[in-house]
Amino acid sequence: MRLSLAYLGALCMIPSVFADADFSQVRLNQDVDMSRRAGLPAEKYFFESTFSMHYDGRFAAHALNYTEQTKALRDLVRSYLMTFQSLGIETWLMHGTLLGWWWNKQILPWDSDLDVQVTESSMFYLAAYYNMTYHRYRRIGGGRHYLLEVNPNYVVRDQSDMYNLIDARWIDTVSGLFIDITAVRYNLTHPQGEGMLGSKDGHEYRVCCILS
Ligand SMILES: *[C@@H]1O[C@H](CO)[C@@H](O)[C@H](O)[C@H]1NC(C)=O
Ligand SMILES: *[C@@H]1O[C@H](CO)[C@@H](O)[C@H](O)[C@H]1NC(C)=O
Ligand SMILES: *[C@@H]1O[C@H](CO)[C@@H](O)[C@H](O)[C@H]1NC(C)=O
Repeated sequence: MRLSLAYLGALCMIPSVFADADFSQVRLNQDVDMSRRAGLPAEKYFFESTFSMHYDGRFAAHALNYTEQTKALRDLVRSYLMTFQSLGIETWLMHGTLLGWWWNKQILPWDSDLDVQVTESSMFYLAAYYNMTYHRYRRIGGGRHYLLEVNPNYVVRDQSDMYNLIDARWIDTVSGLFIDITAVRYNLTHPQGEGMLGSKDGHEYRVCCILS
């Protein structure tokens, strides 16, 4: 029952895109900025909120309750996958998000962050054509709006900048919840030789295990 409902829901969702969103236009809910900047360097691009590491403080002043958060997270994943599929961008779930899908086709009940990866070339493509695009996502029972924002530090390939490990975010502009998008890059100087990939958050993969 749950599966067929999910399928019906998916059929009714229609993504649409607006390019180069003006920030003030997409920030509808609040005048205050709840970003936690204190003690952090200005070079950090994405700031999380003062009330939670998993909310963007520019868009929300408090966390949702569990029921609402679960719904928002589900819509985040669905809208992200649908939109990226329609943009023709290869992407895959990672970390806890992947485990939840593998075990039960669900988001892990204790997770409030979601992770996906893209290839490095996709990240260049997103930065060139889709930075600050605003996506409307309609579904039965009301839609949501999402912002795709690319960290300009995505061009730094090594892991030296610990404040900019996340290359891009898919942000729910109403709740402030987001998906972390990281690129996997070829590591040309890896001690284990050719065919090693890494992301800036320190994860390493063999190319055969992830891209074939
Ligand atoms: C969660 O928040 C929603 C929207 O504010 C509210 O309608 C609902 O009653 C709340 N649920 C709980 C369990 O507090
Ligand atoms: C994306 O747009 C924002 C807002 O204009 C800007 O700060 C950021 O540097 C841009 N990112 C890239 C990769 O150009
Ligand atoms: C390549 O991998 C090595 C070993 O894990 C690591 O020390 C180095 O920072 C990586 N280089 C890049 C560009 O990620």
